[in-house]
Amino acid sequence: MRHATIIGTGSYLPDNIMTNDDMARLVETSDEWITSRTGIKERRISTGETTSDLAYEAATRALSNANLDAKNLDLIICATISPDSFMPSVACIVQERLGAINAAAFDLTAACTGLIYGMAIAASFIESGMFQNILVIGAETLSKTLDWSDRSTCVLFGDGAGAVILSASDQKEGIMSITLASDGSKQDYLCLPAIPLSNPFIEKGEDVIKPFITMKGQEVFKFAVRSITDMIKKLLSKANLSHNDVKYVIAHQANQRIIEVAAKTLGIPNEKFFINLDKYGNTSAATIGIALDEMVQKDMLQPGDRIILIGFGGGMTSGAILLEWS
Ligand code: UT7
Repeated sequence: MRHATIIGTGSYLPDNIMTNDDMARLVETSDEWITSRTGIKERRISTGETTSDLAYEAATRALSNANLDAKNLDLIICATISPDSFMPSVACIVQERLGAINAAAFDLTAACTGLIYGMAIAASFIESGMFQNILVIGAETLSKTLDWSDRSTCVLFGDGAGAVILSASDQKEGIMSITLASDGSKQDYLCLPAIPLSNPFIEKGEDVIKPFITMKGQEVFKFAVRSITDMIKKLLSKANLSHNDVKYVIAHQANQRIIEVAAKTLGIPNEKFFINLDKYGNTSAATIGIALDEMVQKDMLQPGDRIILIGFGGGMTSGAILLEWS
């Protein structure tokens, strides 16, 4: 049977570091509050690079890591909630810059679960035999979506991009199992409005819709813990494995406390959960790709290691992938 396996990873973060102390000069907050409630110490904030710039850099590094020519890509998927424009898509901009002339390209919106949804779609295309090589990118410039006077949200997020290249393999390694879910009844937990309806048939209202992220923090926290615990149980039972058979879990990097509560509930040691949110904050669709690439750069993954990737976010959406590293 054809499997989808990861043959390359890449990531890119803007150079500009914004620390918690920098944040405390903007809003009524402190390093102590942000660190103790979230684990975040600093984040990267773009000083001019767009989402497609970050996506392109991460994609270039993933191609080089995979030793693959861009012309061999069949599909580019970019997961983002902060595209440069509704059209062209970030994926099409990246396709042109990479010279990936044989690739189809589109963006997808599943918020912080975007990379997992993208990898699931890519795996299906590969397993069906339709495509051989697929680039999946998670890229965000969330700094442009933040109300910088709202301390309850602006301290949490950052900019960045992560990318993976999935390829067809006849070996048993690669993606073993996937679970995806959505719960639209919780759509008001995390919101980022787009262009409001406006045409000659609509009376102009007084309300000005602000293009900023709003969030019901505690509700999201509970949803996140439930998603991580439920999905890990589901994936492991589907594969007839226990958590002892898994080397690492890479959960969406939103809040260290979310990960610790989930780990405790599942009885999995904290050390199995990779954490880098202290350096980058929550970069939405990008966190899992950035984390995975950091682990690859640090040589933490060996062939045969089983790892779980888990995302959760606006929509609400959630998804997880169990894979064997090759
Ligand atoms: O990709 C998914 C994205 N979102 C998330 O993952 C968010 C999930 N939720 C969380 O991570 C947590 O709910 C937060 C970190 C957002 C908030 O932590 P919390 O422990 O739930 O705090 P809270 O909202 O209950 O607020 C506690 C206090 C409030 O003050 P009062 O009412 O007790 O006086 C807030 O006004 O902390 C205050 N507060 C802050 N204080 C200093 C809220 N934000 C800040 C801040 N600095 N940045």
